[in-house]
Amino acid sequence: MLPTPLSKLPDIGGTIFTEMSALAQECHAINLGQGFPDYSPPEALIQAVSEAMFQGLNQYAPMAGLPQLRNAIASKLQSQHGHAYKAESDITVTAGATEALMCSLLALVHPGDEVLLIDPAYDLYEPAIRLAGGRAVRIPMHPPTEADPVFRMNWDRMLSALNPKTRMLVLNFPHNPTGVTLKSEDLDALESLIEKQPILLLSDEAYEHIVFDGCSQLSPVSRPALVEHTVLVSSFGKTFHATGWKVGYCCAPAHVMAEIRKVHQYTIFSVSTPMQAGIAAYLSRTDAFSGLSNFYQKKRDRLVSGLKKTRLQPMHSEGTFFLLVNMSALGQRLEKEMAVRLTREIGVASIPVSAFYAAPNRPESNHQLLRLCFAKQNSTLDLALERFSKL
Ligand SMILES: Cc1ncc(COP(=O)(O)O)c(C=O)c1O
Repeated sequence: MLPTPLSKLPDIGGTIFTEMSALAQECHAINLGQGFPDYSPPEALIQAVSEAMFQGLNQYAPMAGLPQLRNAIASKLQSQHGHAYKAESDITVTAGATEALMCSLLALVHPGDEVLLIDPAYDLYEPAIRLAGGRAVRIPMHPPTEADPVFRMNWDRMLSALNPKTRMLVLNFPHNPTGVTLKSEDLDALESLIEKQPILLLSDEAYEHIVFDGCSQLSPVSRPALVEHTVLVSSFGKTFHATGWKVGYCCAPAHVMAEIRKVHQYTIFSVSTPMQAGIAAYLSRTDAFSGLSNFYQKKRDRLVSGLKKTRLQPMHSEGTFFLLVNMSALGQRLEKEMAVRLTREIGVASIPVSAFYAAPNRPESNHQLLRLCFAKQNSTLDLALERFSKL
């Protein structure tokens, strides 16, 4: 007999990404569901990582990360957002954004705390909050309508959700799955929020280098009033087409980072040394990020113009490598049902946006939207479009 109850997360099964990828494989479908590229990282980066291995950099890295990588992250963020993080005390290299998010939530959320999430929300946040003993309070964005076909933040509702138990707000911009970016007026709203109650901001910026139409990534750390409240998390996996390497980072004021490091230290201790050394060397190139937004913008535009000839209507994506499509021309259905059907019958897998809500089967979580990942070779995108044209 085992102690009961055994599970701390009895209602949590596999993720929708695993489920749709498995279905794609079973049906030999094109997988535009899970967010990973079907092409390789830059050759120079692969070379830098293998050189690090041949140079003998194969033992434990320092707990917080190799100094050269933390220094490179500090100067990158200084030029992006004008804030000078100290490599020694404010930056930690993590096993992807995932570990940074989990360590931040476990370190900073206390039992009984409330954490505000923006719906639709990436699936990791709520289980991590619950493991920390907290409660997720989900604030839906205004969904798209015919008159205003974009998701918009609902700051009034966010403000009215604040109460003495509120400890943190999780931000994720550029936003997965909607592709929405933060605007200057959103940062104004965040400043008002912090003025009303000095909560923490956990800013998941995994897609920070993929922002379109000449815009640049706006982060709360670009505002002096917000930076002291913010834990910034990002991922090199998305930026360098290397999701399988699982290298990311986390930045926060020193006294906050000290708490996060206590969890990181006993979770994985440190991240793969040659990966860190290779990424640090690659970051010294002036062209490490240039061209990435343009590369993805071309893919977004290719997919959008192809979709316009089908019965799936593309929405606008301002960043990330995701595009939402409206499937209402195919008849009213739960998004998940339609995603499964398109995988089985048309041979293209997608992700139902309803899966990013707490109750995926409820009508208020279903806006007739599917998420497509366009981090795919043009030939893959073209083949998917050909299949969609048969709808
Ligand atoms: C919003 C968001 N945050 C975090 C992650 C996880 O990033 P990583 O693979 O670096 O752990 C993802 C991956 O899909 C993501 O979409």
